[in-house]
Amino acid sequence: MNIAVNASGVTETIYLKDYTPPAFAVQDIHLDIRVFDDHSIVRSTLQVQRQHPGDLILLGRDLQLQRIVVNGQQLAENQYQLDAEQLIIAELPDQAIIETEVIIHPESNTQLEGLYQAGSDLFVTQNEPEGFRKITFYPDRPDVLSVFTTRVEADLKYPVLLANGNLLETGTVGSDRHYAIWQDPTQKPSYLFACVIGNLQVLKDRYTTIEGRDVALEIYAVEKDIPKCQIAMQALKDSMRWDEEHYGRAYDLDNYMIVATSAFNMGAMENKGLNIFNTSCVLADPEVTTDAAIMRVQSVIAHEYFHNWTGNRITCRDWFQLCLKEGLTVFRDQSFSEDLQSPAVQRIDDVSVLKSHQFPEDAGPLSHPPRPDHFVEINNFYTATVYEKGAEISRMMATLLGKEKFRQGTDEYFYRHDGQAVTVEEWVAALSAGSGVDLSAFLTWYNQPGTPTLAVQAAHDAQAKTLTLHFKQSIKSHHKYPSLKAVPIPVALALFDAESGEQFTLDCTDLFENQVKDGVYLFTQEQATITFQQIAQKPVISLLRNFSAPVNLDFDYSDAELAFLLRHETNGFNQWQATQALLERILLQDHSVDVYLQAMQQVLPQLAPQDPLLASRLLDVPTESYLASRIDQNYQPEFVAEKREALLNKLAQFMGDFWKEIYQDFDPDQQQEFSQAMGVRALRNIALSMLARHGDTCAFDWAFNLYQHTTNMTERLGAMRVLVWNNAPQAEQVLADFYQRFKDEALALDQWFMIQAAHPQADQQQIAQLTAHADYDLGTPNRIRAVTGGLASRPVNLWQNVGVEHFIGLAKLMDEKNPIVGARMIQVLSRWYTLAEPRQHEVKAALQQLQAEVKSKNVVETVNSMLAI
Ligand code: TRP
Ligand code: ZN
Repeated sequence: MNIAVNASGVTETIYLKDYTPPAFAVQDIHLDIRVFDDHSIVRSTLQVQRQHPGDLILLGRDLQLQRIVVNGQQLAENQYQLDAEQLIIAELPDQAIIETEVIIHPESNTQLEGLYQAGSDLFVTQNEPEGFRKITFYPDRPDVLSVFTTRVEADLKYPVLLANGNLLETGTVGSDRHYAIWQDPTQKPSYLFACVIGNLQVLKDRYTTIEGRDVALEIYAVEKDIPKCQIAMQALKDSMRWDEEHYGRAYDLDNYMIVATSAFNMGAMENKGLNIFNTSCVLADPEVTTDAAIMRVQSVIAHEYFHNWTGNRITCRDWFQLCLKEGLTVFRDQSFSEDLQSPAVQRIDDVSVLKSHQFPEDAGPLSHPPRPDHFVEINNFYTATVYEKGAEISRMMATLLGKEKFRQGTDEYFYRHDGQAVTVEEWVAALSAGSGVDLSAFLTWYNQPGTPTLAVQAAHDAQAKTLTLHFKQSIKSHHKYPSLKAVPIPVALALFDAESGEQFTLDCTDLFENQVKDGVYLFTQEQATITFQQIAQKPVISLLRNFSAPVNLDFDYSDAELAFLLRHETNGFNQWQATQALLERILLQDHSVDVYLQAMQQVLPQLAPQDPLLASRLLDVPTESYLASRIDQNYQPEFVAEKREALLNKLAQFMGDFWKEIYQDFDPDQQQEFSQAMGVRALRNIALSMLARHGDTCAFDWAFNLYQHTTNMTERLGAMRVLVWNNAPQAEQVLADFYQRFKDEALALDQWFMIQAAHPQADQQQIAQLTAHADYDLGTPNRIRAVTGGLASRPVNLWQNVGVEHFIGLAKLMDEKNPIVGARMIQVLSRWYTLAEPRQHEVKAALQQLQAEVKSKNVVETVNSMLAI
């Protein structure tokens, strides 16, 4: 056993290789949950059936055990073993009925895990991954599937009583209480159990599945938020249709309920038939919600809905397999969003997230395989690597197979494993069997950490008319994974005639008989060479089109070639990729900015009226955090920030007329489609910030005017940002006005906190003012994240005392109050060791101080890993 000693004593590491199936299956569970103001009582009755020799292990945490009865006999204390984590009953017969009664305290549960009070009018559950053990004693592991019947009882002041499945019965208890009994006919693991007790209103709709099932759709929220549930409802219906059309999967219950709460650790949760959502991922209304947030609502609604098949009907054998459901489901929601808006822009946004979150994670001390093989606290593994890199692995296999074969593969997966708890190996095996293509080499992607580098060299022979491409992959060794293997890398590529800009048709095979098929070359070895014939002149080579693999590309483009690709590439994503490569050279390798400026000047004025959304994305400049992830030592945040500012200033000046034109001539209300209007708003916001940077005197007046007259949150916030971040004379006035207007709209108020925390000169005093504000609340993760997110978006401030102290202080507070959130926040500091001195030593000392004080497994494991570099 590998043990780490810390303030709380000993922390145990759990290994994938130690997996053993449970000794007992649970055929049936009856839960009786009675909620009172100062405690709740939970009775459960389990019907268990032996599968293997061994004891019955029921997991339970923070439960006050009142009694335990086995086959009608109450057990004496010497007839079971009980510690802080589990209750063990030895020598059970092969079948038994286990009844327990426990007292729990949802009213004082600040960790937002298990059953907890979420505001004055609501109780909800969050059981993934291991919250159910805080409700009752149970084999709380995903490979134990059971049929749940739930009776919920509470005061009449909470009219809504929900649980998974079908409503069987309701009634009153005495004069002031009532109950509801629900039964979920599908077998499920305990992490998908949910119940809700509260005072909420509901938006209702219906959907008829392709199989003819009439499904009642319900979204529950507080009364004033009901009008903001329309967009989510439409997204839900669209998702249901999309999964039928693209994966042949129809919904399987007669109702689908969604409940919104602001007290939530993550985005949303796919509990069977009863999703629970962070308000930030379900409420949407252009007057209070930005376009980006609306897009996110649609994608999270789809994500949780798609889990019904990839996660719920087919679940994970153990938590090491988390990316089995998350990676695949993220890939599915990304594909859905591609169909919803422009596929190129969706891919741009998804790759941006991957590069700015997952790449840095994989480059630092928290790097881990998408399917980890050990952990201390599973909550720490809901990471960008599991989700986003996991999605890229599914995507690579889908790219390689093509639509038809990928569908045959997923059909086989659903056919084989419906109703089961499975592993990543079983997923890849089913996909291979169904498609007839052996994909087993992709398992390596799941099993090892790190971002591979793909180095490509090109040689053109004018006489022989050949182009030879030499490929080599490498990956930085990792102290816990010394022998990393080559991975299969699908390289989507194209050759363009350098003069005409026309694309060549590709045809060629490497030594291993791998073909370039549909423009995709599957590179499986450590090195390989391919040769194209009949190429008279040196072409421009476009590599990794559509970001066909999550790797760092190392190819010696000239700036002119990248500018060429920006002009001639045939899809928006590849154009964007060329801009990002150019910018990285300028910002990290001191290349001149001229080629970039000229290329933008050429492309944007034409593109903006046609595709404003894509035009807005081509103006992306890599964030300071992303740039930081590319710097492994002697990192000086001020230096990176200055270079980036200088580039933006040049862009502002060089295209001054263009920004004016965009702002004055483009009108979002004149657009046909939402995505076009969204593009115009994005472009105009960029134009405003460019004009303000340019020192154009009218920019502040325009921004102030827009702030006052628009009814659209994307515009209002864009204007406010320009005024506040540039210390405009109107800044104080708009901040005060925004607060007055939106003080009762929690999600809008989050933006007010965020903009101030992200002020370029935010100092200790300003941050202290925000955290001392009456509306700052440590019980609402969204509000905490508004400030941390704002601060972290400015690495210069993040790495000053103001940032480091804020994050360390917060980790100390959250260590006890909400360790899941505490552990996530502190990760922002994980690249401390790249800092130039003396900062590096100061931050290290602060982290060591933190390490000595914290107690939760979550924060302890995270800080230990961060310091083990
Ligand atoms: N399964 C959820 C999702 O990805 C993730 C989730 C929601 C979660 N709430 C959580 C994970 C709390 C850990 C803790 O859709
Ligand atoms: Zn998920």
